[in-house]
Amino acid sequence: MNGLKLTRRAVLASGVAALALPRMALAAPRTLRAEPVSAQILPEGDGKTAMLGLNGATPGPELRVKQGARLEVTFENQIGADSALHWHGIRIENAMDGVPGMTQEPVPDGGSFEYSFVAPDAGTFWYHSHSRSWEQVEKGLYGPLIVEEPNPPQVDHDVTVMIDDWRLDEDGTMMGGFGNMHDFAHAGRLGNYARAIPSISQVRQGDRLRLRLINAATARVFPIVLTGVTGKVVALDGMPLSAPRDIGQITLAPAQRMDVIVDVSDTLRFDFPTQGEPYELGRIDVVGENPSPILGSIPALPAANVATPGTPDHELTLRMEGGAMGGGHAGDDIWAFNGHSGLPDTPFARFNRGETVLIRLINDTAWPHGIHLHGHHFHEVTEDGALGDLRDTTLLNRGETRDILCVFDNPGKWLMHCHMLGHQAAGMKTWFEVV
Ligand code: C2O
Ligand code: CU
Repeated sequence: MNGLKLTRRAVLASGVAALALPRMALAAPRTLRAEPVSAQILPEGDGKTAMLGLNGATPGPELRVKQGARLEVTFENQIGADSALHWHGIRIENAMDGVPGMTQEPVPDGGSFEYSFVAPDAGTFWYHSHSRSWEQVEKGLYGPLIVEEPNPPQVDHDVTVMIDDWRLDEDGTMMGGFGNMHDFAHAGRLGNYARAIPSISQVRQGDRLRLRLINAATARVFPIVLTGVTGKVVALDGMPLSAPRDIGQITLAPAQRMDVIVDVSDTLRFDFPTQGEPYELGRIDVVGENPSPILGSIPALPAANVATPGTPDHELTLRMEGGAMGGGHAGDDIWAFNGHSGLPDTPFARFNRGETVLIRLINDTAWPHGIHLHGHHFHEVTEDGALGDLRDTTLLNRGETRDILCVFDNPGKWLMHCHMLGHQAAGMKTWFEVV
């Protein structure tokens, strides 16, 4: 069901070194200009792809800011349609959340908007269009947003790895049909060509790396196996784990992130496992040897300052419904939450600031969904009822149920939606209000 076709194109692609996109850690630019760009998604020498990007490239520039510092960005829209930028995973002031029609007016073509916010948590985040996102994100309107710890863990390279898939013709042309109902009713718009693009292409044997994996795909859940390295997972969705954890096979739903710290022994490959040979998403080559490798075990990152949930003040159920091969529902679009499709006029629930809420997420459909809450992180509750990982996006496979616990302490209007962006467009979204 992975849909990645090992065409001649893909096989060729897997043989070349990673694309070296210029994503340098310069001071964050003051302006992000959204505009049409031409990108070399296929290997060098093959056709380019007409896409959307920021400041001339997709992904857009890597924004870096120190924890607790204010990021100020003028967003200029020159894509020929309304747009807005959402700062995914940042516990942000509501007015800066970038949701057109809810937290701001859409930014028209030729218009601009001043984003200004403090980044309270150190970690790996990203920004993306939140306007016709199933089309604009698919076309490349996104980039990484890194919030640096005051004292980052010692590594030789801090590497961002953007992961995505695209639906391309042999000549690199992006296929149309962005609002395709068949895609929306199934897994979403899956690409036929996928890459993991690291921000550097070479390291030395013995180097210690921090890899910041970001799944920017609009629909695909990526399984990833790292080869050539050993190490630990240290954060999920920008939130440090209390203790580093074995890596194993990685699963990243759309919008999810993972930070791993690894020591390099051989060519680092990002592999998508398949029944046969793995599909190589990307690689970092090894040249030379580090004469003085960083020794010692991989440390935990400093804990985030997120409120600990108390006894729930409210318990809610959110049932995912609809889609192909699923049961019916009372909503008027392909997907629904609790029988309602699309954004309701009134919030799904309203909380007083600081209340703890338990939400039982039930996937009553035949498809996986990655459910994202804006403005907060929540704990996944483990099978045995313990407080699990802090996340902003949680993956539920078909038939799965998961409780999440959230302290709603950020005032404003906050979306909760499926980050399979076609599902969101076709009804799977709602909102909460914190007063
Ligand atoms: Cu990353 Cu509402 O989105
Ligand atoms: Cu979904």
